[in-house]
Amino acid sequence: MAIDYRQTIPNNVGLDDNRVLQRALEHWQPRFLDWWREMGPSGSHNYAVYLRTAVAVDNEGWAKYGMVRMPEYRWGIFLADPVPDRRIGFGDSFGEPVWQRVPGEHRVNLRRLIVTQGDTEPASVEQQRLLGLTCPSLYDLRNLFQINVEEGRHLWAMVYLLHAYFGRDGREEAEELLTRHSGDPDKPRILRTFNEPIADWLSFFMFTYFTDRDGRYQLKSLAESAFDPLSRTCRFMLTEEAYHMFVGRTGITRVIKRTLEVMKTLGSEDPADIRGAGAIDLPTVQRYVNFWFSSSLDLFGAEISSNAATYFATGLKGRPDEPQFEDHRALGESLRTEMPDGKGGVIAQEVPMRNAMNEVTRAAYMADCEIGVRRWNRLIAEAGYAFRLALPSPRFHRSVGAWARAHTDPLGNPIGDNEWAPRQRDWLPSDADRAFVKSLMQRVTEPGKMAGWLAPPEIGIDNLPATYEYVRLN
Ligand SMILES: [Fe+2]
Ligand SMILES: [Fe+2]
Repeated sequence: MAIDYRQTIPNNVGLDDNRVLQRALEHWQPRFLDWWREMGPSGSHNYAVYLRTAVAVDNEGWAKYGMVRMPEYRWGIFLADPVPDRRIGFGDSFGEPVWQRVPGEHRVNLRRLIVTQGDTEPASVEQQRLLGLTCPSLYDLRNLFQINVEEGRHLWAMVYLLHAYFGRDGREEAEELLTRHSGDPDKPRILRTFNEPIADWLSFFMFTYFTDRDGRYQLKSLAESAFDPLSRTCRFMLTEEAYHMFVGRTGITRVIKRTLEVMKTLGSEDPADIRGAGAIDLPTVQRYVNFWFSSSLDLFGAEISSNAATYFATGLKGRPDEPQFEDHRALGESLRTEMPDGKGGVIAQEVPMRNAMNEVTRAAYMADCEIGVRRWNRLIAEAGYAFRLALPSPRFHRSVGAWARAHTDPLGNPIGDNEWAPRQRDWLPSDADRAFVKSLMQRVTEPGKMAGWLAPPEIGIDNLPATYEYVRLN
């Protein structure tokens, strides 16, 4: 179904056939806009930005580009087209028809899944709200805003489900999504990673590489859901999410490229020299990788999880790319999982597959994260340097799950508290690292100009040159 932009709330869900729902959402809309003005990208309200907007959910329609004044961006409700005769793809009800309504017995769990996903969307906008003030170029500024408006739309996607399928408590949850705020000591966002500050653009690229990729895997799991409206919503969100990860991957690539150029010119690998020349040394990049990767791993939940088992059994949340698995009931299988033994060592444990679903998804995510690391290492090798980036062990620096109780080095070797404290400086960004990276964040807004700490992009947006004036500031 095409998206109707003549309506107050653009949508492809036939909103004008359901006056009650339409009115409820039109009531929420000004609150969302207030939130955007207050908590959205700082100082952006007069900018015209070269944004893509969805006009239909098929391949041709979902990416139309044009200059948009940011607060006039048309956030709406877009679901992927229904799959005829879609069947439940996993769990105890495998093979039965999917649900168009919420079964009473699954209402609480489904609502929790939708609220948790929904909470991350505005959280990331809040985390990124000051980045525009230190953008390295107009190209990057435009990408930041593209991501921000789409995360805003992802919030709309979840709020639609809450309003349309969960009655009064759904409406209350939709209000709450605008009252929790990232990093707020009294009313924080639900998940820890979404309360971490993103104070510089290196963190932004790490976040879009690692944390938006977590989003991709969550959406893939929810796209398998027996609750069909959730599945259709997530399928469309995934098309938008891909670009967020592109921004992360190419952003980190451009940082590394620039660093390698500086290393060549100076004939030095000494971090102090690299920093002196205004670029980010590779060991600092590694520490940022360690931080954001480990924090994002927490988002998948504990290694052994009865919630995950329930979600799977009841058909609420599957595995990413569920059709590629052989046994969609996952009964009688187990997954060998390494846990701390409580005595400073590691012990392997056979976990029933349904209880290990978080681990299955986390493993798929980690393999996906490796792809970028391999590319970056190829760049470094081609430049003739021996340094290599690496993802730390999934045991490293965790605050959720079995490893939250145990310190390890980045290779996953358990270490004592006394060793952890002094070595942290080598493994995670220190205050000094963060202050240095922040010192590089100078605003560049002349079309075609680029800050000195990263290379220009290889291509522009929508076949335009990288030097195009992607944002008009007044
Ligand atoms: Fe999102
Ligand atoms: Fe995203």
